[in-house]
Parts: sequence; C-alpha cells; structure tokens
Amino acid sequence: MSYEYRSGLGWDSHRIAVGRPMLLGGVRIESEFGLEGHSDADILLHAITDALLGALALGDIGMHFPDTDPRWKGAASMQFLLHALKLVADKKFEIVNLDTTVILERPKLQDYRQTIREHLAGNMSLPVDAVSVKFKTAEKVGPVGEGRSAEAQALVTVRRKLES
Ligand code: C5P
Ligand code: MG
Repeated sequence: MSYEYRSGLGWDSHRIAVGRPMLLGGVRIESEFGLEGHSDADILLHAITDALLGALALGDIGMHFPDTDPRWKGAASMQFLLHALKLVADKKFEIVNLDTTVILERPKLQDYRQTIREHLAGNMSLPVDAVSVKFKTAEKVGPVGEGRSAEAQALVTVRRKLES
C-alpha cells in the first residue's frame, strides 16, 4: 500500500485579558484571566485548524471564517476545526498524527494535558496516542513571557491512499 503524505503548520497568538474565558483545545482552563478575540479565542484550536488547512494548501482560518463576519462573534472554535476536518476528509486524506505546543507563562497547564488530548482525539476521531499536547513558558521574556499574550503551534501530518 502506498500513500501520499502532506504536512501542515499552524500558529496563533491572542492577547491576554481579564474577564475573558481561557479555552485551550476546547477545554475550559481555570484562570483569573483569559484570551481576547472575536471568537472564543481558543488559540490551540485555531493553530490546529490552520495546520489542517495548510496541509492541503486550502488557505487559512481567516479566509474561511473572517473575523469581520458577525456570524463568528463569540463562536465556539471547535466548529472551525470540524469544518477543516471535513475539507480534509472530502479530499480523501486522513490524519496520521498531530503535535502541538501552547506557550503561556501561567497558569500551569500540565494537569490539563490528558483532558485536552482526549477532547481533541474525540472530536478529531483519532486515537489519543496520535495527539500530542505540549506546554512551554517563554521564560518571562517578550509579550508571552510578560503575560501579555499566549501562543499556540500545531503540526499535522495527513495521508491519502494512492491507487495501485
Ligand atoms: O517553559 P519551561 O521549559 O520552563 O516549562 C517547563 C514545563 O512546565 C513544561 O515542559 C510543561 O510541562 C510545564 N508547563 C506548564 N504550563 C505552562 C508552561 C509550562 O505546565 N503554562
Ligand atoms: Mg485565533
């Protein structure tokens, strides 16, 4: 059996704001501040969505869901990811694995790792061991390190069976 493999890279950043929720991978994080944004500002879901779109060269999240469109105000970002997954499936590709990093000074996220992995795996119809979620601080340097913003990165590999 031979396959065509493709990879996609996603990145996102949102400003930290008091009075906003913090959602990462669709999971609510207990925190005294959250992330600003037109949608629910889930940077991890946005990075994963862009990685999927990138793997198939289908543009980016803003092209599919413009933040000037009132339909996406306060939107649950899982719907962006589900849309990208459908585009991938329509092109007969399946996901091999997903690797991600969230860069946030605080709060500590490691206790959420398994919940986020399971939530992503469930929504993406993947085994949990194909979904990696990593966390880093920015060592108190730059906007992330100073607690003014948070970032997420995602790398996804997809494959499609080739006709023999
Ligand atoms: O950034 P640093 O290398 O100091 O992070 C050390 C560890 O702390 C990471 O490997 C990660 O498991 C954890 N971490 C965390 N929550 C964060 C940042 C890092 O749990 N917001
Ligand atoms: Mg975003």
